[in-house]
Amino acid sequence: MKKIVVLTGAGISAESGISTFRDSGGLWEQHKIEDVATFEAWERNRALVLEFYNQRRRQLAEVKPNAAHIALADLEKKYHVQIITQNVDDLHERGGSTNILHLHGEMTKARSTADVSLVYNIGYKDITEGDTCEKGAQMRPHIVWFGEAVPNISLAAEITAEADILMVIGTSLNVYPAAGLSRAAKAQCAKYLIDPNASDLNLGLGWTIIPSKAGEGVPVLVEQLLKEA
Ligand code: OAD
Repeated sequence: MKKIVVLTGAGISAESGISTFRDSGGLWEQHKIEDVATFEAWERNRALVLEFYNQRRRQLAEVKPNAAHIALADLEKKYHVQIITQNVDDLHERGGSTNILHLHGEMTKARSTADVSLVYNIGYKDITEGDTCEKGAQMRPHIVWFGEAVPNISLAAEITAEADILMVIGTSLNVYPAAGLSRAAKAQCAKYLIDPNASDLNLGLGWTIIPSKAGEGVPVLVEQLLKEA
């Protein structure tokens, strides 16, 4: 079976109703990164940070995977598929994909502030001040904040280096190290980019650019790849 690696960003979940970060009207226009998505913000105003993620987690309970998430799960019929996502939502899981590596954490998990290995499934429940881990320390969102290391990045690069086909979907490629991952792909890897604003991205040569929304472009590409398999 050929190996497909799919790197996704906020754009794949846009048609499910989750705001992207950097499009006009996106989350980082409404909130300052330094107020809600850094460890310093957490130390300064824990309640604000918790509320930011609690709101987003409640919203996640209300939305559904879209045609793009579902089509990617179909690819598993004929390919070994590895999703590498910058998204903290669970829409790939709910869309039926089985191999998913989250680079920036997961909204449906909480983790201990005392021990990074203590991670708990919380579903769509809020985290509040006073929620503690088994060691008695405050729980925080299981999210990689700006300035923090991305623990899964080396594994993601190793997986990308093995890909026969790479699909990059709905990411502005602004945030490193995730944005540099495609450079780990081997020269003969077939590379596809699906993003309605694809022309803004400077990826270099050898890419097939599909300037569509994920919900339209991904099912078409998946159908083509299933025929070619
Ligand atoms: P961005 O908001 O930076 O980029 C979203 C991308 O999705 C843009 O390139 C849009 O053109 C594209 N897009 C919009 N609608 C789309 C649609 N319907 N179909 C396909 N693409 C669409 O989001 P990311 O690149 O994911 O990190 O952002 C990367 C990281 O920055 C996030 O993981 C998050 C954020 O800060 C953390 O919070 C650590």
